[in-house]
Amino acid sequence: MKWTIALASLLFAAQAGAQMVDLRAADAVGGDAAAGAAKVAVCVACHGPGGNAVVPAFPALAAQHAGYLYQSLAGFQRRADPASPMTAQVKDLSDTDLRNIAAYFAAQPRSAAATAVAGEAGARLFRQGDARRGIPPCQGCHGVAGQGHPLRGSAPRYDYYPALAQQQSAYLVARLAQYRDGKLADSSNALIMRGVAHNLDDAAIRSLADWLAAMPR
Ligand code: HEC
Ligand code: HEC
Repeated sequence: MKWTIALASLLFAAQAGAQMVDLRAADAVGGDAAAGAAKVAVCVACHGPGGNAVVPAFPALAAQHAGYLYQSLAGFQRRADPASPMTAQVKDLSDTDLRNIAAYFAAQPRSAAATAVAGEAGARLFRQGDARRGIPPCQGCHGVAGQGHPLRGSAPRYDYYPALAQQQSAYLVARLAQYRDGKLADSSNALIMRGVAHNLDDAAIRSLADWLAAMPR
């Protein structure tokens, strides 16, 4: 019995080892925003000027935390998922390019998004979660105002927790479903969100996405 368990965990470690990125002790992401600016002409065609996306399915990048942006870009490179339009975009970028681009978008102001109507259901889930359904409050890790982890600034790893306020609704819906359905699980942080999203049904995802997209920032 002991051996079976030992073998199973060895196999898991081997499988996870190839792909799993441990972000618990991640370094601060430094980058040169001016150098990044020279690389984003193609990006803003989809992500909007300065990363202020207009199309709901394209995520906003403006004022997102550099650590999170960098890690998100590195994830697209690592997974090379043929279904994602981002795979071709990051294929030929160096690690330094990713850091510089992350620094560029992090430094852009987020222009006010169109005001949407947000229901109370999303607000309640964000603030309190739903213990009966095993859903934790989002604000514990994403901040009362959806601005990022409350401990951001105290250690680099908290810069890897994204701001959510004014993110694009259709993008949020797609992303939360990916976490829930186990399609994003290749970093320690993605695993955290997989656990969080596990008990979200489509209606909960929709109400959270609408609430977050309309949240002032
Ligand atoms: C053809 C349109 C298109 C172009 C061009 C494009 N992107 Fe994207 N980007 C997307 C879409 C769609 C997603 C969501 C994709 C997904 O989740 O697989 C995305 C996701 C992202 C994310 C993840 C955001 C988050 O909150 O996790 C980042 C960061 C990003 N893109 C940066 C860039 C950069 C940098 C470039 C230029 C080098 C770029 N994109 C070019 C369409 C585009
Ligand atoms: C225990 C901490 C924790 C809690 C609680 C939590 N999150 Fe997260 N969340 C994270 C981390 C860490 C990431 C970064 C994951 C990654 O790098 O893939 C993240 C990423 C996300 C993203 C991806 C953002 C983007 O730009 O792509 C969304 C959306 C999200 N969380 C929504 C939520 C919602 C909604 C809730 C509440 C139901 C919630 N989170 C609760 C830690 C948490």
